[in-house]
Amino acid sequence: MASHSLLEGKKGLIFGALDESSIAWKVAEQCHAEGATLVLTNAPVALRMGKIQQLGKQLNALVVPADVTRPEDIEALFQQTLEHLGGPIDFMLHSIGMSPNVRKKRPYYHLNYDWLYKTLDISAVSLHRVLQQAWHMDALAEGASVVALSYIAAQRTFPSYNDMAEAKALLESIVRSFGYHYGKRKGVRVNAVSQSPTPTTAGTGVPGFDSFLAFAEKNSPLGNASAEECARFCVMLFSDYAAKVTMQTLFHDGGFSMVGISEDIMQLFSEAYNH
Ligand code: NAI
Repeated sequence: MASHSLLEGKKGLIFGALDESSIAWKVAEQCHAEGATLVLTNAPVALRMGKIQQLGKQLNALVVPADVTRPEDIEALFQQTLEHLGGPIDFMLHSIGMSPNVRKKRPYYHLNYDWLYKTLDISAVSLHRVLQQAWHMDALAEGASVVALSYIAAQRTFPSYNDMAEAKALLESIVRSFGYHYGKRKGVRVNAVSQSPTPTTAGTGVPGFDSFLAFAEKNSPLGNASAEECARFCVMLFSDYAAKVTMQTLFHDGGFSMVGISEDIMQLFSEAYNH
């Protein structure tokens, strides 16, 4: 893994590494290669089912269980993280998403509202909860960098993305609002990275994921961005090279978000209609 020591001496907290396919897993590996000291966290059930302990060993990182819907878990997480790192946190990755409505195949016009609140709580409000806890414990260093992962369904409709679209729109709004307050208070940067479809546990749980992936690949001049490429982009945002970037949704999608229709897609349609 190529390294430029971009995060030498920095301390990070990474949410959401479940297995090798997770975007957070790749981010953790790249941050470690760039010289960072890490704490990894995930839901207690993910610690039992996933492979995060293996990653912890590989990266010499502390692994702490925390359900992001439970304030007491988050407080304990920050206490242990500050103790382990021996000082404030320089960067943080929020890489968390889950929708019971998507999981249980409820269509958008037949949502279970308790599940909708769960979707919003886990996938979006959790960012606020984490930042608010960090604020009250003064856990983030001056000029720290926070990145949350998002998807273009926050801006445009992708029907099978369902209520996760609402979650991502809320997440990006929290990025802006907390970005303002934390910027004023401590020069902390808060950004969202809107990533291409990526074959992970959360990604492949969206109905029709393979079509999403293939369509985005053909509609993006650079092709889809991989999890490894996303990891390198996150490292750049965590580094001092992005010192004045904040409150943004940054599209890391091979150009997908700026294309109406590509020649490749037109070709596919003309073949389909001419037969
Ligand atoms: P993933 O399934 O590997 O990661 C999702 C993580 O959320 C898992 O580690 C899971 O344990 C964690 N999580 C769920 N409930 C939790 C809770 N209550 N407390 C703490 N953690 C909890 O999948 P992926 O794709 O790496 O997802 C990471 C982020 O990237 C998510 O925000 C997702 O929406 C976003 N994203 C994914 C894309 C894709 O196509 N895979 C595209 C764009 C954004």
